[in-house]
Amino acid sequence: MDTVLSGIRSTGNLHLGNYFGAVKNFIRMQHENRCFFFVADFHSLTTHPTPHDLHQNVRTVLSEYLAAGLDPEVATIYVQSDVPEIPELYLLLNMNAYIGELERTTTFKEKVRSQPDNVNAGLLTYPVLMCADIIIHQADKVPVGKDQEQNLEMARKFARRFNNMYHVEYFKMPEPYNFGNELVKVPGLDGTGKMGKSEGNGIYLADGPDEIRKKVMRAVTDAGPEKPHSEMSEPVRNIFYIMELVSEPETIKYFKEKYDNCSIRYGDLKKQLAEDIIRFNTPIRERIEAIYHDESFLKKVVSTGAERARESASKTLREVREIIGFKHF
Ligand code: TRP
Repeated sequence: MDTVLSGIRSTGNLHLGNYFGAVKNFIRMQHENRCFFFVADFHSLTTHPTPHDLHQNVRTVLSEYLAAGLDPEVATIYVQSDVPEIPELYLLLNMNAYIGELERTTTFKEKVRSQPDNVNAGLLTYPVLMCADIIIHQADKVPVGKDQEQNLEMARKFARRFNNMYHVEYFKMPEPYNFGNELVKVPGLDGTGKMGKSEGNGIYLADGPDEIRKKVMRAVTDAGPEKPHSEMSEPVRNIFYIMELVSEPETIKYFKEKYDNCSIRYGDLKKQLAEDIIRFNTPIRERIEAIYHDESFLKKVVSTGAERARESASKTLREVREIIGFKHF
C-alpha cells in the first residue's frame, strides 16, 4: 500500500481551485492507500495571523475537508502543530538546505515581490518545512495542484541529499500525483492566472448562492467572437474551464456551439455557470455549516488524527536521529 500525504495551508476558506486541484483527489485516494491529510497551520504563520484567527482558520479548513468528503475513519486527518516531530525534522533538514536554492524558488520570489515588507525567514524555508511534512511519514504520493510542483521537487532534493550525506537509502522520493494526468491548475474568474486565496478571485466552498452569482456575473470576458470558430481569449477559456468542472456535458456543448456560431451571450453563459456551481457546492456548504459547529466531532477527529500521525512521525524521527548520530548518554 502506498503512503499518500497532502496538506493545505490554513489561510482562509477552501475554494474551487483547492477542491478540484487537490481535495477531490484526496477523496478518491483515501480508500486504497495509507493516507495522511493535514491542516498546515505552521505554514500559515508566515502571514502573521492573530491568535484568534489562527484557530478559527484551522477549524474552517478542517470542517471543509470533512464536508468535502475526507473520512477520518480511513484517513489520518490532523493538525500540523499537533505533531512536534515535524518542526524537529524541519530543523534537521535546514542544516542541509542552502540559502541560494531557497532564494531561487519561484514561490519565494513571488512573495518578495508581492509583500516586500514581510520577507521573513519562514517564507524562505517554506519548502524545507514542506519537505519535513512529507518525508516524516515516508510518503510515496503527494496529490497537489500544479502550483506545488516546484516545492515537491525541492522535497525530493532535500530527501536525496540526506540519503547521500549519510550514505543511506532511508527516505523515499515523494512524487506529485494526479492519477497519471497532468497536475491541475484551476483558473480564476478575473481573466488570467490561477484561482488563489491571496488573489481574491476565488469561489469558495462556503459561498452561498447570492455570493456565487455576484462573483460569476463579475467574471472578465471579452467583446465576443467576431467570426465562426475563432479562438477563445484566455478569460473566456477560463470560464469554459470552470464549466467543465461543474456543468453537464450537454450544457458545455450547447454554449461551445453558440460560441462557435457567434450567437453566444456571455450573460447567459455566466448565469448558467453560476447555477451549476451553486448546485455543486450547496450540499458541501450545508455540511460545512453542520460540522463547523460540531465541537465534539472535531475534537475527536483531531485527537485521533494527532495520535496516529505522531506514532508514524516519531518512528521516523527516532530513526533519523540515529542515522545523524545523536546518542543518549
Ligand atoms: N504548500 C501547500 C499549499 O500552499 C500546503 C502544504 C504544506 C503541503 N505542506 C505540504 C502540500 C505537504 C502537500 C504536502 O497549498
